[in-house]
Amino acid sequence: MTAKIIDGKQVAADMRAELKDKVAELKTQGVVPGLAVILVGDDPASKSYVTAKEKACEEIGIYSDDNRLPDDTSEEDLLALVEKCNNDPKINGILVQLPLPKHIDEDKVLLAIDPAKDVDGFHPVNVGKMVVGQDAFLPCTPHGVIQLLLRNDVPLEGAEVVVVGRSNIVGKPVANMLIQKAATGNATVTVCHTRTKNMAEHVKRADIIIAAAGWPNTVTADMVKDGAVVIDVGVNRVEDATKKRGYRLVGDVDFEAVKEKASLITPVPGGVGPMTITMLLYNTVLSAEKAMAK
Ligand code: GUN
Repeated sequence: MTAKIIDGKQVAADMRAELKDKVAELKTQGVVPGLAVILVGDDPASKSYVTAKEKACEEIGIYSDDNRLPDDTSEEDLLALVEKCNNDPKINGILVQLPLPKHIDEDKVLLAIDPAKDVDGFHPVNVGKMVVGQDAFLPCTPHGVIQLLLRNDVPLEGAEVVVVGRSNIVGKPVANMLIQKAATGNATVTVCHTRTKNMAEHVKRADIIIAAAGWPNTVTADMVKDGAVVIDVGVNRVEDATKKRGYRLVGDVDFEAVKEKASLITPVPGGVGPMTITMLLYNTVLSAEKAMAK
């Protein structure tokens, strides 16, 4: 079997078009959703992510408030900026780009964000609500993965899902979301990690594999059941002298070999990546709607 490629760019474009209509509708009611983007330091990868997030806001009509702070910004100054955004009615979402410089306590900063403006879904209040199945902002990458599955008609109910990786940003939340008693869940989930014995034995059972380990070739063809659906969340740089920039991006899955066994597979780039920003836009619009309803 050769897999159909899941086109994350297309799903993201469809969702962004829906959100653009929603933003236009909100504007007729005098509401412009606003996102505060906060970047501390000048890490090139973080800079390009933040720029992409701001551009995506502009494209669908969300107001973005750009805050780029020097690397030596104090924790106190950053907390003061977060507080200012918490109290600003024009701001519906606050995004503090991670990682933060080492002298700043990341947990303390995430805790300072008003949970009602936590469009990343990283605040423990939102994480807790998600776990117990209450209304919450869902973290963007895991929510994007679930939207990719649903919008490609992949049945979740009763499906055997194996998640490879247990990070707070992807592995743990996606596993949690998939076991919820909801249309976006109802799956049977196994989480594999660096201490798992016989990972291949677990992965071989999966109807759906979600690879979020952060390492190339973590999922190889011998581990994949014929017809499985494979979602690759990994973004890894590997040296490639044929490229001008000296590297290329690969996921956590051995794409070329695995696509010969899977029924559906996401590429890297162009799979999960475009969905992460889309779900951030989704949460920002949702937050504006919630603020309006208050
Ligand atoms: N750094 C890498 N991914 C993310 C993300 O989704 N949100 C934030 N705030 N920082 C990140």
